Amino acid sequence: MKGIILAGGKGTRLYPMTKAVSKQLLSIYDKPLIYYPLSILLLTGIKEILIISTPDDIANYERLLGTGENIGVKFYYKVQETPRGLADAFILGEDFIGDDNVCLILGDNVFYGKDLSRVLWNARDRKVGATIFGYPVKDAREFGVVEFDRSHKVVSIEEKPKQPKSNYAVPGLYFYDNRVVEIAKNVKPSPRGEIEITAVNNAYLEMGELNVELLGRGMAWLDTGNPEGMLKAAEFVQVVQDRQGFYISCIEEIAYRRGFIDAKQLMKLGEDLKMTEYGQYLIGIAKEALKHE
Ligand code: G1P
Repeated sequence: MKGIILAGGKGTRLYPMTKAVSKQLLSIYDKPLIYYPLSILLLTGIKEILIISTPDDIANYERLLGTGENIGVKFYYKVQETPRGLADAFILGEDFIGDDNVCLILGDNVFYGKDLSRVLWNARDRKVGATIFGYPVKDAREFGVVEFDRSHKVVSIEEKPKQPKSNYAVPGLYFYDNRVVEIAKNVKPSPRGEIEITAVNNAYLEMGELNVELLGRGMAWLDTGNPEGMLKAAEFVQVVQDRQGFYISCIEEIAYRRGFIDAKQLMKLGEDLKMTEYGQYLIGIAKEALKHE
């Protein structure tokens, strides 16, 4: 399975913070926002990842993430000239996707929770159709929203409805089989001029091949759409990391625990950042591992 991170957009809701810097490069506590969705792809076990961003910003992502070799994966980069909508990721990514299935995650989506890996693996292992998620929120108007019938069957997904038919929002994490490329090409632009991911999901629904997994209380899906959301997300990360001593979305640690790199390489990555707590954290894990080798 291939992975795509869409890190485009103008981030106008975060101006002036994002006037000169891409939103997904801003920090959530101690690491760039894009580390959080990237960690989800790594947890899923995906090692080939396409990062899509704007003509102005793509070079910054390359500077931050490089080839991926240092964490045992391969990053590819692609420019999106104009923000045409989320489904554009599959059109831009057609050659990269090739004959594979694909997981798309939005560069500003933060997930954390118990059993998350199992949820991800189940979605990855379903070879045919699409898997998306439903997450209960207080106010679903800003999102794609799942509509259920009386027997709890999904009957539609609505994009940013004024009157949501449920409180289940669709997070920006989507798993598709290879047909998604052709489906995306046939999506007509919405009234806001974008080729919507919701149209892709409804196409799978019409084919009877859309799985909607509902996420429960033990899962955090955090909003980073405005300054308040970013601050709350940062506080969440800080509180959990400080209490448990485990980092959230530490891509080097995940690469090590998933077997993409060995303890020696983890030590090297830690040494490169040894002036920070982040680096010391990596060194600590590597030391412990080397002791048992
Ligand atoms: C997009 C999708 C929406 C989804 C949301 C999740 O919204 O269109 O369906 O619920 O991401 O973050 P946008 O970021 O384009 O407002």
